[in-house]
Amino acid sequence: MCFGKEDKSSFLPFAIARVSEEAQAQNSNYSYKIKIRIKMKEKNNLTILSIETSCDDTCAAVLKIKDKKIKIISNVVSSQVKLHAKYGGVYPFLAKREHQKNLPLVFKRAMKSPNLKVNLIAVTTGPGLEPCLWTGVNFAKELAKKMDLPIVSINHIEAHILANFIGKNFQRAKNFLPAICLVVSGGHTQLILMKDFNNYKIIGETRDDAAGECFDKTARILGLGYPGGPAIAKQAQQCSSKIKNLKFKISFPRPMIRQKNYDFSFSGLKTAVLYDFKKRSLRIRKSKQYICEMAVEIQRAIIDVLIYKTLKAAKSHKIKSIILCGGVAANKELREQLKKRIIKETPSIKYLAPDIKYATDNAAMIGMERNQS
Ligand code: KG4
Ligand code: ZN
Repeated sequence: MCFGKEDKSSFLPFAIARVSEEAQAQNSNYSYKIKIRIKMKEKNNLTILSIETSCDDTCAAVLKIKDKKIKIISNVVSSQVKLHAKYGGVYPFLAKREHQKNLPLVFKRAMKSPNLKVNLIAVTTGPGLEPCLWTGVNFAKELAKKMDLPIVSINHIEAHILANFIGKNFQRAKNFLPAICLVVSGGHTQLILMKDFNNYKIIGETRDDAAGECFDKTARILGLGYPGGPAIAKQAQQCSSKIKNLKFKISFPRPMIRQKNYDFSFSGLKTAVLYDFKKRSLRIRKSKQYICEMAVEIQRAIIDVLIYKTLKAAKSHKIKSIILCGGVAANKELREQLKKRIIKETPSIKYLAPDIKYATDNAAMIGMERNQS
């Protein structure tokens, strides 16, 4: 959850060194159909330095790409969670200051050896928190100037999708397409029809809060801290394993589940959680059992809607796979339930979920974008 204005749709309008005019034009009018053509001789033998600062993680990674095979040399994430936890969300200018402090150190650690020869710099230019994005972009531009390297602008959402292909042979990646991608992060909840690499169509999205935001805000109500997703998941898991009888019989709505479109809405769920919380006595609000039962129902309500709409989209489009991505993709319950439901209801459709360490924000996924063109 973020307390500032998020640049949800557009790329930052900065001039990218040495990238073609066509790419720049497309960047200024972002349409999920990004194809940046970079004039490089070493296209099939690249070492990429990638930088990600769109929210509250300062990240840098180095990837080596040879004959379409990708090797992650380093993937450094410096989390600001401790700093933001006391506020229950991210303050963009506080996050920006941390990025400025952390970027040189994270970069140094990612580069591992001073002899590493980088050919290209990739940096997240959106969507995300504008002050944070600019910190990464300015750092990348300075590096590019110093190292005399080209620099490419990367879309954070596309990178989340491509995180699913880290460690996989890109030659075979096309076997998974077309796909329905369920993007679930702190700022976004979208269903995207991915026809090819560089060919994306948003078929549904949240009309208010994102799924991750709902986890964060409801965790804050319950006093579980930030980030809320892992905190709610932990409480829910404890409830299932330790508490036998559900005492409070909590039931929340599954917003928009019966509507024909592929859109989502999570702000009503947050309000329902707040109402339930407010009507309880102080003693109950603080009791372990109540917190656990709330966590179970919040997680269930979010997961039910996400899975229902994803499967509905999968059944009405000719696709080969369902791709889960974004920070909420780290949720074990969501991963497992989605897998089970795909096997049961659409067994011919493949299922991809990112390695947990590449689900939440990281820079390895930012370096992936260059591989498919
Ligand atoms: O993609 P991400 O790292 O950052 C954004 O691009 O927003 O996603 C962060 C979101 C947060 O809302 C966080 O609470 C949620 O992902 N998240 C989880 C889990 N781990 C992170 N939500 C549910 N369960 C998790 N295990
Ligand atoms: Zn993200």
